[in-house]
Amino acid sequence: EQIEKGGYEHFMLKEIFEQPKSVHDTMRGRLLVDEGIIKMAGIWDHIERFKNANRIIIIACGTSWHAGLIGEYLIEEYARIPVEVEYASEFRYRNPIITDKDVVIAISQSGETADTMAALKLAKEKGAFIYGICNVVDSSIARITDAGSYTHAGPEIGVASTKAFTAQLTILTLIAFKLGKHNGNLGNADFMSLIAELDAIPKKIEDVLSSTHELVQNIAKDFVTATNFLYLGRGYNYPAALEGALKLKEISYIHAEGYPAAEMKHGPIALIDENMPIVIIAPKKGHYDKIVSNVQEIKARKGKIIAVVNKGDTQVSEMADYVIEIPETSECFSPIVASVPLQLLAYYIAVYRGANVDQPRNLAKSVTVE
Ligand code: AGP
Repeated sequence: EQIEKGGYEHFMLKEIFEQPKSVHDTMRGRLLVDEGIIKMAGIWDHIERFKNANRIIIIACGTSWHAGLIGEYLIEEYARIPVEVEYASEFRYRNPIITDKDVVIAISQSGETADTMAALKLAKEKGAFIYGICNVVDSSIARITDAGSYTHAGPEIGVASTKAFTAQLTILTLIAFKLGKHNGNLGNADFMSLIAELDAIPKKIEDVLSSTHELVQNIAKDFVTATNFLYLGRGYNYPAALEGALKLKEISYIHAEGYPAAEMKHGPIALIDENMPIVIIAPKKGHYDKIVSNVQEIKARKGKIIAVVNKGDTQVSEMADYVIEIPETSECFSPIVASVPLQLLAYYIAVYRGANVDQPRNLAKSVTVE
């Protein structure tokens, strides 16, 4: 096992650090920047189904569901196809309206999640075209779908999903750009600049890992005894906030909630006092001015602010108690980059609390029962 961990203390840390490579592997053979194309046989062979789809329904559980929410932002923004995102467990039992004009995308790292599998079977029976985004090759979900794309993140051993999540985001980005280019909603110049930027994301993840690792470790020390956390973000980073909170809950057993930052005033603001740590994802591109006012509201109530901002940020940074800098990207890529320090934060808080990071209590890597 020590050899498999490749010198890291836990699989989770190893998998966090593998992300420059895993994201690159997800794009390998698919993203051909010089030729200006995205090659995805699963999409291309069924392009008419996607083109004529009334809507795309994404079904998943847990972290994969968070990836699905970001997929909604991506596909709606770049391909202008309506997207709905459903928890598989809810979808399967609510007699959903599905027709043969619908495309259902299931996202699952393991490809074995019982609820996702059951939801897919139901969609298939109702005539939808079903597409899988799985990490485990030849898994049950990969086998029953009409087509799909593997994430190629490599085996993920830690129960808390890290590199599979960023690989799922990478595939969803490729799908959104490919569909948008094909249906004419994403013009060639924008497509070319977006794919060039996507190609550089592994390098940005590498930079984030080296520039934030030690800093996040130190921040984590100050929150070992915290009992609650709020994670806030807007737009593409709202699901990133949900995912950051889930990571912390799963491995540190600290109660954490993710919220869209603007929803704070509809309830969670009542929780804020000097004992409430708040992680706020505030990159320059993505409703920055709105986030600044959310941070002011938190500051006025003495919440402890841990801000994830772009390099060179001043406004949010001046108000924050802790600042984690990430490189600037187009908004659509920011959840990939912002998630990395949040994974590290959850990891180190859990390690300092003496928790079993790779195998947290009550959790299984793949949930094959209801
Ligand atoms: C992730 O950290 C969790 N352990 C969990 O939420 C997981 O994402 C969920 O069970 C779905 O698993 P799947 O992707 O294998 O379907």
